[in-house]
Amino acid sequence: MKALIAHIAAWLFRKLEGAELFLVLRELRRGGQQVAISATFGTRVQLRIDPRARLRIGERTQVLHDSWVIAHAGNTLDIEEDVFISQHCTVSGNVRIGRGTLIGGFVTIIDGNHVFDDLEKPIREQGGTQVPIDIGTDVWIGSNAVILQGVRIGDGAVIAANATVTHDVPARAIVGGTPARLIRMRGDV
Ligand SMILES: CC(C)(COP(=O)(O)OP(=O)(O)OC[C@H]1O[C@@H](n2cnc3c(N)ncnc32)[C@H](O)[C@@H]1OP(=O)(O)O)[C@@H](O)C(=O)NCCC(=O)NCCS
Repeated sequence: MKALIAHIAAWLFRKLEGAELFLVLRELRRGGQQVAISATFGTRVQLRIDPRARLRIGERTQVLHDSWVIAHAGNTLDIEEDVFISQHCTVSGNVRIGRGTLIGGFVTIIDGNHVFDDLEKPIREQGGTQVPIDIGTDVWIGSNAVILQGVRIGDGAVIAANATVTHDVPARAIVGGTPARLIRMRGDV
């Protein structure tokens, strides 16, 4: 009997999680945000979109469970068609992710930095800066990579697992490490 109640509770819990996401998506679409009907979202995905931000999520894009998509007031967040965002990723701020790009698990793409120049003030009181991130089409970003503010990644580039990308990446380059450096160009042996 206890097991049956636990199963029913778990089923209800999953339904409620789905319902919350359904309501958030409905609210976003009603507010004029563009989220393709064919885009899919896993459980516990958070879409934290300020009503004064602009969001576009393209056709057939997939966002797996526990990922967060965040846009603050005035931000433009554009995730194009056929993008795959794996589990536990964070995409935040002014970010474009080009068509067909693949993003591994636990990747962080945040356009913001804290200001920390004033030694007399706590960092948390010094505000922040945002510089847009641009990721091209058909890019592959390996698990746990961190893409820092202002970075532009060219079409067809590959970002190795665990890379910290601090500078622009040319099209079709393979980069890895912290900070990320060129490993080789795709097509070179
Ligand atoms: C980068 C990657 C694509 C391999 O590219 P590759 O060109 O075939 O690389 P190789 O295996 O021939 O290695 C080339 C060099 O890069 C280094 N390298 C490979 N992967 C690396 C990584 N993640 N970080 C740092 N350096 C790396 C290798 O050690 C090697 O260096 P060396 O020449 O000094 O020995 C692969 O290692 C990788 O990181 N894939 C991501 C996997 C992943 O995250 N999967 C899940 C998400 S879908």
